[in-house]
Order: sequence, then structure tokens, then C-alpha cells
Amino acid sequence: MTRINVTVDGVTYEDDVEPRTLLVHYLREQCGKVGTVVGCDTSNCGACTVLMAGTSGRHSVKSCTVLAVQADGREVTTIEGLAEESGQLHPVQQAFHEQHALQCGFCTPGMIMEAVDLLQDNPHPSDDEVREGLKGNLCRCTGYQNIVRAVQAAASAMGNGAHRAPEGEGMPGTPVAEPAAAATDERVPEEAVPRPAP
Ligand code: FES
Ligand code: FES
Repeated sequence: MTRINVTVDGVTYEDDVEPRTLLVHYLREQCGKVGTVVGCDTSNCGACTVLMAGTSGRHSVKSCTVLAVQADGREVTTIEGLAEESGQLHPVQQAFHEQHALQCGFCTPGMIMEAVDLLQDNPHPSDDEVREGLKGNLCRCTGYQNIVRAVQAAASAMGNGAHRAPEGEGMPGTPVAEPAAAATDERVPEEAVPRPAP
């Protein structure tokens, strides 16, 4: 067993893990973060995507391809740590809800985490860039049209000031606390949401 220290969704965990333990299993079974799901266990589906701090910033990783010991000393954000403590959803979560970007929902945690990473690198992606950025995340239900629409809606909302990256600390893409009422007022109007080409 190896002792690791990992900060998950703002809480530091100190645990003993087997060297072979995958990060996704550590998150689910020892941290209780069951919002991060396992779809394939073979790096194909992206359902297990989380954000992890590394030497080049904080980016998405498929947590079934990372050993828990590789997360030692690092910060991990799961889908359960994306919303604010007040319950205010992250703009990407809100957009997935408003644009009906899910059906069964199994791919959704990973899809949202990957979209957060995409938008922190490219705040104003084209539809093709959204599809390219999410190509490692598979959805068997939606046909992807509403997922692209949701990412574009989130990009618009974040660009309109409904969301700001934290300054100096915290996970890029993590919402800064704002009054819920103000955020509600800044939702993207339906007519402003980019539509996919027919
Ligand atoms: Fe990790 Fe499918 S469970 S990529
Ligand atoms: Fe069912 Fe994507 S909503 S797999």
C-alpha cells in the first residue's frame, strides 16, 4: 500500500492505496465521488473524465487511465465539485440542462468536465472545434447536436460575464461565488443560442 494525499473537490484526502488502483476507482470507492462514472475502463468513452492539476495547468484526464498514486499531491475536480456551494450550477452544467444535452445522462459528467476544459483553452470555439474537443467522449443517446449547442450556450454565458475564472487560485473553470439571483438574470436568451447547421 502507498499513502497518498489528494485534494478532491476542495477537500484533502489522505489514504492508503494499492499501487495498481485507478484514480476513478479511488474517487468512487474511497472518496465517495460516484458522480464520476466508469463506462469502459479502457480509455475509450470519456465518462470518467475529471480535471487534474499538473505541471501545465489543470486539464481533463480520463481517470481510468491515471493511477491514484499519480494524483498524489495534486488537486482533482470532479463533476460533484463543479457547482458552487450555494447550489448554483456551473455555466456548462446549466447549459446542458437548458439545452437538453442529455438523455440517459451516463456520459454527461465526463462530457461536462471535458467541455469545461475545452472552454478554458478556447473560450469561443466553432461548432467544429467543439466536436473536435469532445471527440474523446462518447454519447450513445443524443446524436451530439444538443451537446454542441450547450457548449456554445455556455461559451456565450461565460463570455457575457455570467462566469469568471478565479483569480490566482482554484481550478480554472470553477465558478466564482455570485448571488444566485444575479446569475439567473444573466442566462442566455433562447434566441442568442447558436443553432447547428441543418
Ligand atoms: Fe474511462 Fe471509459 S471509463 S474512458
Ligand atoms: Fe446517454 Fe450520452 S446521454 S450516453
